[in-house]
Formats: sequence, C-alpha cells, structure tokens
Amino acid sequence: MIQEIKSMGLFGMEAYCVNVEADAYLKGNSLDIVGLPDASVKEAKERVVSALRQCGFETPTKKIIVNLAPANIKKVGSVYDLPIFITILLAVGSLNADLKDAAFIGELSLNGELRPANGVLPMALCAKRNGVRRFFVPDANAHEAAVVDGIEIYPLKNVQQLIRFIRQREDIQPLPRTLPQKEDLIYPVDFSDVRGQSIAKRALEIAAAGSHNVLFIGSPGTGKSMLAKRLPTILPDLTFEEMIETSQIHSIAGILPEGKPLVTTRPFRSPHHTVSSAGLSGGGSVPRPGEVSLAHNGVLFMDELPEFDRSAMEVLRQPIEDGTITISRANANVTYPCSIMLVAAMNPCPCGYFGHPTRKCTCSRQMVSRYLSKVSGPLLDRLDLHVEVPPVPFESLSEDNTAETSDVIRQRVNQARQFQQERFRGKGFFSNSRIPSSMLSEICPLDDKAKEILKNTFDKLGMSARAYDRLVKVARTIADLDRSEVIRPKHILESIQFRSLDRKYWSS
Ligand SMILES: Nc1ncnc2c1ncn2[C@@H]1O[C@H](COP(=O)(O)OP(=O)(O)OP(=O)(O)O)[C@@H](O)[C@H]1O
Ligand SMILES: [Mg+2]
Repeated sequence: MIQEIKSMGLFGMEAYCVNVEADAYLKGNSLDIVGLPDASVKEAKERVVSALRQCGFETPTKKIIVNLAPANIKKVGSVYDLPIFITILLAVGSLNADLKDAAFIGELSLNGELRPANGVLPMALCAKRNGVRRFFVPDANAHEAAVVDGIEIYPLKNVQQLIRFIRQREDIQPLPRTLPQKEDLIYPVDFSDVRGQSIAKRALEIAAAGSHNVLFIGSPGTGKSMLAKRLPTILPDLTFEEMIETSQIHSIAGILPEGKPLVTTRPFRSPHHTVSSAGLSGGGSVPRPGEVSLAHNGVLFMDELPEFDRSAMEVLRQPIEDGTITISRANANVTYPCSIMLVAAMNPCPCGYFGHPTRKCTCSRQMVSRYLSKVSGPLLDRLDLHVEVPPVPFESLSEDNTAETSDVIRQRVNQARQFQQERFRGKGFFSNSRIPSSMLSEICPLDDKAKEILKNTFDKLGMSARAYDRLVKVARTIADLDRSEVIRPKHILESIQFRSLDRKYWSS
C-alpha cells in the first residue's frame, strides 16, 4: 500500500511542504527515489538502508519506490533522509502508525543519528501554516523550531528513539516554546564608551532615527569602528516579527548559534574587505543569503571601504535602495530581504593621515585621489551622512566619562520613529530614508528660507537628483528629532553639513 508522510523543503526564504510517498511492491530489493532529487537526495538511499540495518530491520525484500511530491520542484539536501526512512517502514509494514498530523526532517548518519539541518525555522513556520501539529526535527535544531507558536516540536537524537516513540515504548516531550529572555536584549557595548566625537555621535543618532546610511572618514584609531559597532544599540528594539524574520535568514545560512535560536538584537555584520560579490549579495547553486541579508533589520558595516572589490561595492547599490536582493539562477530566482542600514568607514588616503591636524600625510596628491576614487559616485550618493571622525584630544579621552548612554539616545530615536510611523501608516514604508521621490515635497515641507538655502546649495554643489532627495530626507529626520513638522533652515543646514565632505575630499 502506498504510504505518505509530510516533510519540508526550502527554496530561498520560503519553505514548502513535501509529501514523501513510498510504495513497496513485487519481490526485489531495489530502492528508487524520484521527484526531482538532486545528488545529495539520491544519496539518501545509502544512508537510509544503513540506518535500517542499524535499527535491526531487515533489508526490504521488495521493490520500493519513493516519490517526493510536488515533482516539479528540485529537492536539494539531506533533510529527506528521515521521512524517507519512516515511509519505507510504513510501506513494508514494519511500522504501523497514524502520522497524518506530523512532519519530519533530518539527515541520518549511517548508524541512525540525526544531524542538524539548515532552515529549520522557516520550515517550522511553514509546517504550522499547513496544519502540521507535530514536527519531528534533529535535536540540535529543536530550539530553533520551537520559536514558532502553535506547533509541537519533538527533538530527536536518533531514529531508534523515534521508533520507540511511535511504538509507544518511550515518551518524547515536545519542547516548550522558545521566547526571548530579558538578558538576550542587552548589547555588550554602549555609546557611553565613546569619548568626545559629538558630531559623529549626532550623525549616528540621525541615521538611527531615519534609517539613513553613514560614511565615516578619518585617520587610523580615531574610533570609526568603535562608533559603528554601537549603532545597533540606539536603534529601536527588534519586534518579535523582526526577530523571526532575521532568525529565518540566519537559520537558512546555518549560523544560528546552538542554544540561541532567536536573533534578539539587531545584527551587526562586518564582512572583511576581501569578501566576494557573492559573499556580500548571496549566491551559490543553492542560493544562500549573503552578508547584506544576514544584516537584515540591522547594520552592515563596510570597514575600509576603498579596499572592497569594485564589483562587490556595486552589487550593493540596488539592494540598499530596494531592501531586497534577488539572486538569479538558471531554474529560478530567489529573493531575500535586506532592509539594512549601511555604515562605511575609510581612511582618507593610503597612509591614513591626509587632513590630520598634527601628523603628516606621506601620500602624493595622485595617490590620495586614486584611493578616494575607488568609492564610486553612485555609492557615495547612497551614503546619506558623510562624517569626518577627527582624532580625539587627550583631554576628552582622559576626562571622567559623562557621555550619554545608548538608552538615552535610543529614547530620542524612538520618538522620531514614532512620528514616522504615524506619518507613513498604510503607505508601505516606515522610515524617512524610504520616502519615494514622488511624495518628497508633500512629506518634507520646507519653509521659504530653508527652500532658498537648499536651492543655493543645489546650484553650488552641482548635486545629483539622488543626492538632493537624500539631503531632504535627512533634513526631514533632523526636523523629526526636533519635533518640527516643517523643515526649517537649521535642519536643512545640518543636513547639508553632512554632505560637505564630498567637496573636501572628492571634488578636486
Ligand atoms: N572616542 C574614543 N573614545 C574611547 N576610546 C576610543 C575612542 N576612539 C578610539 N578609541 C580606542 O581606540 C581603539 C581603536 O579605535 P577604532 O578601532 O574604532 O579606530 P578606527 O577609526 O576604526 O581605526 P582604523 O582606521 O585603524 O580602522 C578603540 O578600540 C578604543 O579603545
Ligand atoms: Mg576600524
């Protein structure tokens, strides 16, 4: 008789139900797997047969055919080992159970141990959506799946344990739901660690309030990396939905630390400058999310920006704007979310001391301009706030620390975000950085004086339309922090100040 049980597959961010069907007929001892399996699924055969033997079952004396439905989607990976194992036992009559309400995933070792899998969280979400009541997963991934409410998650060490459970000889307790703990919401660093640097801190506060991108330029050791690392600490707390979204991507990439199945704080990803374009944007024959998606709902930090491969920098341009990235493959496209804030940092020249108040720069003029020109105009345009990070004077470093804490700054950020939430309700975006051009004049009203300043600056700087849009959006955020509905001269002037480095470094 044909037997059927549920499993879960993964394609990009989306998990989908896979029905694993098995039929045992005639005499024989063959096992065939159909339903567009890739090489790793085909190898399930060997692992399953070995596990059967280890569990004391005789090698079936029938022809067995296993079908993975729907047959038009390519099945990838080794998670189907467990459901194949179980359906075969059902089909040959070695096991008798009603498993209609259950789903199974997991790779088997030759002796029947269950190995961890990637993407168990999106699979659990999908199982829940499809009415699965019991989800059997490898022990190592169980906490990850238990994030999902309304579905029982059964952790399995090996298939022997599952068989005893099905035969009611051993009880397995479903895991209690994983919920974020208070201590998981705390960051190990704080803004009050940073002495001085009031302008850079102000820039990060504005960036956090409106979700804008930031570029830091400064000599070595001035605190650029230190500042960037603290940006997540002043962003609003992740909502539970955002935690799930980000955790799903980390689950697919297989980077959720064991015992910590939920990403509870905003991610801070800092890929090394030798990262490939695919490493940044995502890729591979089974498209994996790249750094830009791993930073989803958090911060992507590109330290030493000019050292990045030009193509890696360029690949980011569209995703920064869209908040999603599509990886094209011959058979299908996969889209991952990447709603990020980009922070980039760089030295002003190869030696690092161009423009330093006391140390002499040893680079020639050409070397400086060649170095700066590695950052393309279009990318520079997308970095809304350009901030010079000067060396901190000795007095600031040695003074008693009275700097504001991240908590205090975050309260102002939250207030500004609140205005934006009300303003953008029902519009499909949530932050000033995402205001579409067509709504700019309606959402960003400037008073007459501010308009005049903006016009003069536009003419004087020869700004691009994108730079203009971004300047106004940043001014909108500055006005929000100031609780002003109208953009006034001081708001636009501060916004312009954060675009003035273009001229200092890139104009000549
Ligand atoms: N404003 C500051 N307040 C307190 N400590 C600071 C400050 N700036 C720098 N430091 C100290 O100097 C160290 C180096 O700073 P950081 O790595 O952030 O510099 P950087 O600007 O990123 O340098 P590089 O250009 O070499 O990457 C920090 O770990 C910190 O200990
Ligand atoms: Mg650094």
